[in-house]
Amino acid sequence: MTERVFLQLGTRPVPYPEDVRARLDRDADTIIARYSLPEAPDPQMARSALLPLLHLVQAEDGFVSPTGIEFCADRLGLTGAEVTAVSTFYSMYRREPTGDYLVGVCTNTLCAVMGGDAIFEALQDHLDSGDDRLTLTRVECNAACDYAPVVMVNWEFFDDQTPESARALVDSLRIGEEVVPTRGASLCTFKETQRILAGFPDERPGAAHAGGRVGEPTLAGLHIAQDAGMTAPTVSRPTDSGAAPLDSEEATAAATTKDKPAPAPTESVPPEKGE
Ligand code: FES
Repeated sequence: MTERVFLQLGTRPVPYPEDVRARLDRDADTIIARYSLPEAPDPQMARSALLPLLHLVQAEDGFVSPTGIEFCADRLGLTGAEVTAVSTFYSMYRREPTGDYLVGVCTNTLCAVMGGDAIFEALQDHLDSGDDRLTLTRVECNAACDYAPVVMVNWEFFDDQTPESARALVDSLRIGEEVVPTRGASLCTFKETQRILAGFPDERPGAAHAGGRVGEPTLAGLHIAQDAGMTAPTVSRPTDSGAAPLDSEEATAAATTKDKPAPAPTESVPPEKGE
């Protein structure tokens, strides 16, 4: 008979205290019920709750702790290895304890060339004295390139940053000032943010209306297209709402272009204003 050998890799999980476990179980019930109805449990569907459950344990521990991994595995019928595999794939799940404010500097290509690398270095020097409440990290592109270089604190955007403005930002965080991102409600702590990301209500004043702006950098391409008289082709498609089906010409066009790569841009570039 084969003897099973248990290899302990990493820190041994310490079970949550009873009251904490009971509270997390109640929250986990709420999350799992979004995917698998309690009256007709579906273990496969319930596994879809893993991502919000990982945010829930980050809200408790400040990172995806070994105990949090065991909790998720236990609640979803997964192995610790499966939970670990998912949590280490996504960069929003932290593997190390994280301070109240996760300061992420985008150093992806566009932000980097616009000054993101300089901002990261400036903050590295500035935070050298060490402050457990702030955790500095590099982040990948968050699709805010039109406001590059961006800094994110607890995943809220601070647009058009400079080394000076980023230093002022972390100084405000360090002294506990209220800090409002460029787009969004006032910052809350990393753990509070994680609870919101787990799907619980965002009760920050103004959070529901903090839709942000559509500024000139975002609209620049649209304005160029409009000035050049460019329009998108219109193709009516059959929909459940009863829109007209494709006529034969449209159907032929759709069939011949389906699965083909988009053509490379060949139009001449509109002249710069004033040229
Ligand atoms: S490269 Fe920084 S947001 Fe896109």
